[in-house]
Amino acid sequence: MHDDLETLASHLNTRALGRAHEHHAEVTSTNDRLAQWAKEGAPDGAVVTADVQTQGRGRRGRVWSSQGENLYVSVLLRPGRLVDGSALARDFSALGLVVAVGLARGLEPLLGRDCLELKWPNDLLVGGRKLGGILCESRWLGRAPEVVVGFGINVRQEEFDAEHVAMATSLARLGVEEGRPQVLARVLGGLESAVDAFVARGFARLRGEYEARCPMLRGRVRVDAGQGGVEVQALGVDRDGALRVREEDGQERRVCVGDVVRARVGSG
Ligand code: BTN
Repeated sequence: MHDDLETLASHLNTRALGRAHEHHAEVTSTNDRLAQWAKEGAPDGAVVTADVQTQGRGRRGRVWSSQGENLYVSVLLRPGRLVDGSALARDFSALGLVVAVGLARGLEPLLGRDCLELKWPNDLLVGGRKLGGILCESRWLGRAPEVVVGFGINVRQEEFDAEHVAMATSLARLGVEEGRPQVLARVLGGLESAVDAFVARGFARLRGEYEARCPMLRGRVRVDAGQGGVEVQALGVDRDGALRVREEDGQERRVCVGDVVRARVGSG
């Protein structure tokens, strides 16, 4: 199989995403390299990929193991000035959820409907195991955000170390044989469609799609961030991406950051 990410351009079906592309054999983090390129004038939609990241990072300061034959990708988004009162300004913090919808749109044709699940805020799971994760990092130029959307998707890695073997999966393990450039082209297409809709109309139309792909929003969950691991009923997501939950006392609360897992059946 031809798996060279330098060939990305020949697979692309996008307007902007990936049209400017740098591939590296090794970087510290694709997010860092793209942030640097952005300061030097990289265009909207520019993409950095790498075969290996020596300091790949995940949400909440975690390490993102980055040695396998997987996708390590960063995409530059410059959605424009956030004008007061606009849908985009109001919903901007839902961007990470929009990215998850976009990646799901791209991967779904490979995996079949209902196979891929989202886990709030923006993990990609299959059969309860992690297939991919998203890390968005922004800087502000006045009222205009410049967002580095980083994501990792396990593509061809079949073996995982002891720490990850029970928690991780890959497209290869799921029987998908497409190589990294083809998978990335699909994902960038899905991402562009979701981001375009978000920039034009905010999160309103995408929220239902996010909730439909996120089964944990229809059950009891355990919230670990700042709430002492309480078990609550998930209700859905707000327009700004916050998770809405109902606590035991009937009070509704919003969770803006943190780790949330499905409650074990029979617990609580
Ligand atoms: C998470 O699930 O915690 C998010 C993982 C994000 C990993 C990707 S790989 C490409 C980009 N570069 C990084 O250093 N991190 C993101």
